[in-house]
Amino acid sequence: MNRKLIIAIDGPAGAGKSSVARKLARQLDYLFINTGAMYRAVAWKAQQSGIPLDDVEQIGRLARESRIELTGPVDATRVLIDGEDITESITSPRVSQAASVVSAIPAVRRALVARQQQMGNQGGVVMEGRDIGTMVFPDADIKIYLDASSEARSHRRFDEDTARGIAVASIERMRSEIEERDLRDKSRDDSPLMQAEDAIYIDSSGLSIEEVVVRILGAVSSKMN
Ligand code: DC
Repeated sequence: MNRKLIIAIDGPAGAGKSSVARKLARQLDYLFINTGAMYRAVAWKAQQSGIPLDDVEQIGRLARESRIELTGPVDATRVLIDGEDITESITSPRVSQAASVVSAIPAVRRALVARQQQMGNQGGVVMEGRDIGTMVFPDADIKIYLDASSEARSHRRFDEDTARGIAVASIERMRSEIEERDLRDKSRDDSPLMQAEDAIYIDSSGLSIEEVVVRILGAVSSKMN
């Protein structure tokens, strides 16, 4: 396998994109880029700086001027903004909702998409998000649209958050937050979450991470041969 592919994984929150992308990157010895973390970083900084989420101008400027780094090994990636490690802080439900709001701002998307293209254009990358196969790398070698029922997704997120020690009210509350976020991500004007025409659709509701990874590796090897 010497050709370094660009693998794009898109889909709604909680479908398993990060776990799948991470595992795939480890097996292929590729870079793993979680673009959601970049939108979360901008949202975190806006909240930290007291900028209202509807101040599109200031938030656009913040996205252009902040230095966002995704560093470290595949299994222990860290997220830094202007040198500050915010890996843990950006997983809170408050930042999740705020990230969904700031990601609808076109100036934010322009700034982050340009950086994502720079990060991945050499290939050898598994990049996950909402618009990777449609906007960031429309010519990606492999595009996956990873979906799951909102029930399966809320259970997963609930378990993940509980394991991380994040207080979550209930699964029902988690489900309504996820559905609210999905609706916003799918209905925004700029680069809404949608399946690229040439993406492989995988419903992970009844599948393990490993089973999803095996399916994608199948697509990778047919691309190589
Ligand atoms: O994947 P995530 O849950 O960490 O993403 C956080 C928010 O960022 C999500 O609500 C939608 C947005 N996002 C986006 O608009 N485009 C991406 N490529 C990645 C995330």
